[in-house]
Amino acid sequence: MYRVSFVGLGPVGLCTAVCFATKDIAVIGSEMDTAKVKQIKSINPPFYEPNLKELLHKAIRSGNLKIVTNNEEAVLKSDITFITVGTPSNRDGSISLQYVIEASEEIGKALKKKTAVHLVAIKSTVTAGTTLNIVKPILEKNSEKKCGKDFFLCVNPEFLSEGNAIKGTFNPDYIVIGGYNEKSAETLENLYKDFHKENLPPILKTNIPTAELIKYANNTFLATKISLINTIANICEKTPGADVTKVAEAIGKDHRINPYFLNAGLGWGGSCFPKDLKAFIAYSKKLGYNPTLIQAAYKANQDQVKFTIEKVKDNLKTLKGKKIAILGLAFKPNTDDIREARSLKIISQLLKQGAIVTAYDPMATANVKKILKKRINYASSAIECLRNADCAILVTEWEEFKKLKPKDFAENMRKPILIDSRRIYDYEKFSKRLRYIAVGLGEPLKPQP
Ligand code: UGA
Repeated sequence: MYRVSFVGLGPVGLCTAVCFATKDIAVIGSEMDTAKVKQIKSINPPFYEPNLKELLHKAIRSGNLKIVTNNEEAVLKSDITFITVGTPSNRDGSISLQYVIEASEEIGKALKKKTAVHLVAIKSTVTAGTTLNIVKPILEKNSEKKCGKDFFLCVNPEFLSEGNAIKGTFNPDYIVIGGYNEKSAETLENLYKDFHKENLPPILKTNIPTAELIKYANNTFLATKISLINTIANICEKTPGADVTKVAEAIGKDHRINPYFLNAGLGWGGSCFPKDLKAFIAYSKKLGYNPTLIQAAYKANQDQVKFTIEKVKDNLKTLKGKKIAILGLAFKPNTDDIREARSLKIISQLLKQGAIVTAYDPMATANVKKILKKRINYASSAIECLRNADCAILVTEWEEFKKLKPKDFAENMRKPILIDSRRIYDYEKFSKRLRYIAVGLGEPLKPQP
């Protein structure tokens, strides 16, 4: 069995490292952030992910997972190194490769000290050309070795989604291996055969730039799918009687469309879609091609927040001095992650226009407090959040919010106006007791003669 190391213990690195270690693979995770390392070593993951804490405990207790703050040690004591560092956005939206470059330099220096042939696999999301034009020369220069002969190189994009990272690592839909040469690809394929055993998912072998591009294509497709259903939702809202949830249910039955990622709402947030679409657009423009469809998907996503604010204003006339309750801060349920969360965009608009905001989230409040501090009020329950509000906006579809009844809004709010931005409530029940406005739902159809 190969020994595996991970350079960078963010969500992708840590979750994959932990899963590998629970399958009896010797794993070393290397992370430079000492505070993070302390948390991981004390079985206190730096972010929430279902099942991660339990598996981290198992992995560390078994001795299969070692955590270090030294990339060289990670490389020297393993046969395969995954680069799993972040690739954030530059100011202009293009990808920042700073961490990938730093990691590659250190891995290269470590490779110089190795006699055995080592495989370096890039899991970080990087634009096409990065591995061959940037990573490979850095590895070769620092190791004084030849790629394909003295060390192997692959691109192995990751398709995990937050909240589903552990399940997704054990059961991915497919694996992409972009190998520098046959031997590189074969080595990584063997690792996955050891890991998945009889449950091996389909493996697609490609060249390196194609593998890099697949990651962007996957995220762009999903984000565009959501922007499209949101566009249809906006048209439904202007069409008496129309309901986007029924439209989505129907078109989702067409196997060419499928029912996933057709939930209309406030738009997509998180650490991936916004960053990756921006980077893909910047990459494409650099090549002299304007990717108009992707640009439109991005713009449609920004507009979705604007339309929600307009709905609040339509019902309250002005936002000045009005008390707005925000239900949900996380960028999606079951996470405390607020990166690019729609809640933050909405709150910023509301504050700009003079509203008084109170927010509640089952998990993400502490993270928002660090950013917004005392600019908004924080409630410790949904009911407390609704108390005396002039309007409530349902932003994140947590299970807890699905249990709220019409009377919870009607009896606690000053003016019972609810904007259901994720379509979790029943129109018939809620519209009886409050002004219920929902994304993708047109005005009721007038009785027909
Ligand atoms: C996304 C992809 O789904 C993963 O495959 C990918 O690996 C990951 O990015 C990444 O590049 O690292 P993630 O950002 O964790 O995963 O979350 P998603 O479940 O995809 O949700 C993204 C956003 O879309 C959320 O704000 C969510 O509320 C929104 N969404 C999702 C909708 O508005 N409607 C839907 O039907 C589905």
